Amino acid sequence: MYAAEHQRDDTTEFLGKRSSDYRDALQQYADAWRPDIACMKRFLNPKRGERILEIGAGNGYFSLAIAQELGPDGLLIASDPSVDQLSDLEQHAQDDNIRVMATPAETLEIGLKDCDAVWSRGAIHHVLDKTATFTRCGEVVRSGGRMVIADIFAGTPLARYFDSFIARSCSTGHEVAFLSKEFADSLCALTGWAPPKFHDMITPWEFETRADIGEFLHLLFSATDDYSPGDCVDAADDFLSVTETGSGWALMWPMTVMTTTRPAHI
Ligand SMILES: C[S@@+](CC[C@H](N)C(=O)[O-])C[C@H]1O[C@@H](n2cnc3c(N)ncnc32)[C@H](O)[C@@H]1O
Repeated sequence: MYAAEHQRDDTTEFLGKRSSDYRDALQQYADAWRPDIACMKRFLNPKRGERILEIGAGNGYFSLAIAQELGPDGLLIASDPSVDQLSDLEQHAQDDNIRVMATPAETLEIGLKDCDAVWSRGAIHHVLDKTATFTRCGEVVRSGGRMVIADIFAGTPLARYFDSFIARSCSTGHEVAFLSKEFADSLCALTGWAPPKFHDMITPWEFETRADIGEFLHLLFSATDDYSPGDCVDAADDFLSVTETGSGWALMWPMTVMTTTRPAHI
């Protein structure tokens, strides 16, 4: 691991219990997001030796999988404003191909201009200045490089679920700004990215029982005591879909993946 910068901002949402609950959810249900790892590999397609910047890395669930694909000659720069979120990644990253930066995307300074790709999952809706973020990402990516953003987009069932249930039940609230496809398209045009493509994906989050889905969601979104795990799985079933599979239960999670590239003439 390279140098880490430590920056604490008490307005950061993912601190303390919100962050430790998030980590506990992913530790207790480590296989739940396996389909999301497959989705990341499909769209980001990280290759050996590449340099990739990750925005909003959280506790590194995707970072470790990406770094493994990059191999010892590659580099993953995992950034997030929350020191608490990044602490797991700092502790568990064994390879020296991960550099951790405790910085919000809007003010990121990575000191490189030739990254092959930018990856972000579930974080851009927390980023308030998306214009600055797209601009900065463009400055660090080489011509022909790519940007892949998997997130909640405005107007989708997932956005309705967050605005209706998560905003009330999450212990920190959920004051965010979802990208619309139209605004993302404009942002790409304004900041020198090629017209983006949007892929509406449904990844099944995998569990043994229906009750496990409630426990996972209760932790992942750090629900207040007013909401039980049962409430959490019922709301997910109302807004999304919870279904029995051949091997257990799945929460069908509908995310949008935006892909774009840096045109060669920029
Ligand atoms: C829902 S978590 C997603 C974490 C990880 N990508 C994942 O999929 O597990 C959102 C993350 O966005 C981070 N975040 C919030 N504001 C941000 C900003 N301005 N720039 C970059 N990341 C931000 C949070 O600290 C948090 O770790």
